[in-house]
Amino acid sequence: MQHPLIIALDFKNLQEVQAFLSPFKGRELFVKVGMELFYKEGPEIIKYLKNEGYQIFLDLKLHDIPNTVKMGMRSLASLGVDLVNVHAAGGRVMMEAALEGLEAGSISGKRPRLIAVTQLTSTSDVMLKSELLIQQSLQETVKSYAVLAQKSGLDGVVCSVLEVPMLREVCGDNFLTVTPGIRLADDAKNDQTRIATPAEARNAGSSMIVVGRSVTSAENPVQKYEEMKKQWDGATV
Ligand code: C5P
Repeated sequence: MQHPLIIALDFKNLQEVQAFLSPFKGRELFVKVGMELFYKEGPEIIKYLKNEGYQIFLDLKLHDIPNTVKMGMRSLASLGVDLVNVHAAGGRVMMEAALEGLEAGSISGKRPRLIAVTQLTSTSDVMLKSELLIQQSLQETVKSYAVLAQKSGLDGVVCSVLEVPMLREVCGDNFLTVTPGIRLADDAKNDQTRIATPAEARNAGSSMIVVGRSVTSAENPVQKYEEMKKQWDGATV
């Protein structure tokens, strides 16, 4: 899958995941497992999804001292997932350690790709200054954290579609930009503020999009997935 549409499996447990995935049987999917599901079901959920043939983004956003992250990543790599992430705020040594851990734990010689969260989309300029005491703008910190992630050897970042053109300029075409906050024009925004359609994401240069509630809460999830995928695959405007 060169430009995957990743479905966020933001569900409580395996039963809910099975119920959601059953009408997708036989399709090649790339899915995202986050904290809620992984902390409830543990590595078994990864084994289950791998057995079903899905590609997996394990979204646990590690952030700790370098050695702890290295060992954590070694364990995650041994699950055979395809994509994992860390917080860029952990710094260069931590990101390099994460990569070392992934190399050490890789199975069948295939290291999971590693991306960094720059600033969470829930962080505002006000919060950055008044709580984190960072005086640079949000945009500047996103850019600088992305460059740091690239210098540390990471494969890309998670970012908003709106940041993709800026990051393409500073980090080049081969750096992955994985973008959540995706909605069709008439979908509910929910709690996302900086949203884009799949076509806008593609035209901006996103490498992968992450779609959650637009598909998982749809009346007909398969139909909604097809509609979004068509736009993502075939965007021309
Ligand atoms: O339901 P929705 O499409 O908004 O879900 C987006 C998914 O992407 C969720 O799993 C959310 O945790 C994740 N995400 C995000 N914004 C980030 C990082 C991850 O929405 N900056």
